[in-house]
Amino acid sequence: MSGGSARRTIWAGDGGVAIIDQTRLPHDFAMRHLSTVDDVAEAIAVMRVRGAPLIGATAAYGMAIAASADPSDAALEIACAQLFATRPTAVNLGWALQRMMGVLADLPPPRRGETAWAEAEAIAAEDVALNGAIGEHGLALIEASHAERPGRPVNVLTHCNAGWLATVGWGTATAPIYKAHAAGVPVHVWVDETRPRNQGASLTAWELAEAGVPHTLIADNAGGHLMRRGAVDLCLVGTDRTAANGDVCNKIGTYLKALAARDNGVPFYVALPSPTLDLSLASGDEVPIEERAAQEVTDVTGRTSDGRIETVRLVGAGTAAANPAFDVTPAHLVTALVTERGIVAPDALVRTFGGTR
Ligand code: MRU
Repeated sequence: MSGGSARRTIWAGDGGVAIIDQTRLPHDFAMRHLSTVDDVAEAIAVMRVRGAPLIGATAAYGMAIAASADPSDAALEIACAQLFATRPTAVNLGWALQRMMGVLADLPPPRRGETAWAEAEAIAAEDVALNGAIGEHGLALIEASHAERPGRPVNVLTHCNAGWLATVGWGTATAPIYKAHAAGVPVHVWVDETRPRNQGASLTAWELAEAGVPHTLIADNAGGHLMRRGAVDLCLVGTDRTAANGDVCNKIGTYLKALAARDNGVPFYVALPSPTLDLSLASGDEVPIEERAAQEVTDVTGRTSDGRIETVRLVGAGTAAANPAFDVTPAHLVTALVTERGIVAPDALVRTFGGTR
């Protein structure tokens, strides 16, 4: 693979879109065709596609499917509401839907289908370009870290999956890693397993293995220990929504890593493409945090030695589980945001991006 860029996660065709069904990774690389708005909504809700940028792009294609089936105002509004209800936290979903509705609103219905497909393609292409630019800026951080400690790999800790699977291409947090690897900068990634859905174990580790990037899977609780031992040079994570004050909402567990990083003097970077910035929110306290099924906590799914995919229960009967899927890392724990426009301090987001979104 050419450093991440060649891998794409969604393709238009046959009146719908093809996706990689991420619920089947890492054991099975399976494509799935989505041909109705119901298909698209289901794929986002059950996380066949996930990750903030890919959720946005998939919803945009969902609107294109809707506009081809029935381009009336009423039908588009119903499709938009259905897609918007799938997941609450990643702002890219609402951003993409708003952009699609904005482009279609003033067109006569017969012209909407073709325009919607073109706009969804534009959103997808832009995502690849934004992440590529994030990769270049993040590469400079990794190179600087290597220059400080030559003779050994740069140890990066990441959480969840902010890789190419979470985007249309490149990934956000992984783009700098793929670019460093391709440039011959030695890099090693500590991959948080990321309970309860294990996006780190099932997706990030798989991606890095495919790309030949050295990596080690760790239990979520190991990061603090590794940082105290000096085994982490920098943390680099993604985000689902970043507020105007620089508070970062990301997969549950991110905040604890930021706390450990601060206590150990480890830089904590967040890869942020501008569609994930929500300048309408003054702080992270306003981000809607998705609460998912308790079963994701009480059960685990994996492959048995004879190749069957099985879900087994971890806890005894009578134990309730809570499953907040995201948390907020306050801006003061974030060293900087790696954006398509460069490395931006959390308190400079409005100055840098205000007026553009
Ligand atoms: O619940 P998920 O798997 O959609 O959560 C994904 C994350 O939290 C990612 O870190 C975030 O979307 C950034 S992806 C480039």
